[in-house]
Amino acid sequence: MNPMVTVNIDGQDIRVEPGSNVLEAAERLGVMVPRYCYHPGLSVAGSCRMCAVEIEGMPKLQISCHTRVRDGMKVSTDSEPVVRMRQAMLEFLLVNHPLDCPVCDQSGECDLQNFYMEHGLHESRVFEDKIKRKKAFPIGPHVILDQERCILCTRCVRFCEEVSESHELGFWIGATGRSSTCFQAGSWTTTTRATSSTSVRWGR
Ligand code: SF4
Ligand code: FES
Repeated sequence: MNPMVTVNIDGQDIRVEPGSNVLEAAERLGVMVPRYCYHPGLSVAGSCRMCAVEIEGMPKLQISCHTRVRDGMKVSTDSEPVVRMRQAMLEFLLVNHPLDCPVCDQSGECDLQNFYMEHGLHESRVFEDKIKRKKAFPIGPHVILDQERCILCTRCVRFCEEVSESHELGFWIGATGRSSTCFQAGSWTTTTRATSSTSVRWGR
């Protein structure tokens, strides 16, 4: 059996199994690293960059969901560069996100809202009009898609590829930019991060 490794996160030591990622090690310590695309039951996409942390000896911030622990590693989840990175990523994710929280069925249980309140800039620097996409677009008998709310985390896509193995979903580059589409109702809607794909019972 491989020996456990000791990692220092925000000044606290923790012993974890080799092969664990930094995000999981932090969670074991009770340190919540913001994340959107990571899900423990799915492969790592590393696309949202929200889980970036600073690791001693590394020249750039690293995404904690895709970085394996090493013995003696020193990690900071709340240094100034990490905080600035989170603010920048939230600003980027929200540039075209609709401000329809008052009528959104995920409001109050939304990690976009939660992380924005905790880490966001809180003063918009964007004055351009937001790009409009399809709202309440039916993609089957049970699911509607709000393309404006999708943050392209790909959790729904990976669920259909890796769990249901039904491969209904995908991303493509179209004339108006990247979009997602969904063709299956069911438990995959519970893997989503924003309320972009919703049961038709709640979405209208
Ligand atoms: S529809 Fe939801 S789960 Fe799928 S990529 Fe968009 S935000 Fe992520
Ligand atoms: S959670 Fe790590 S890159 Fe998205």
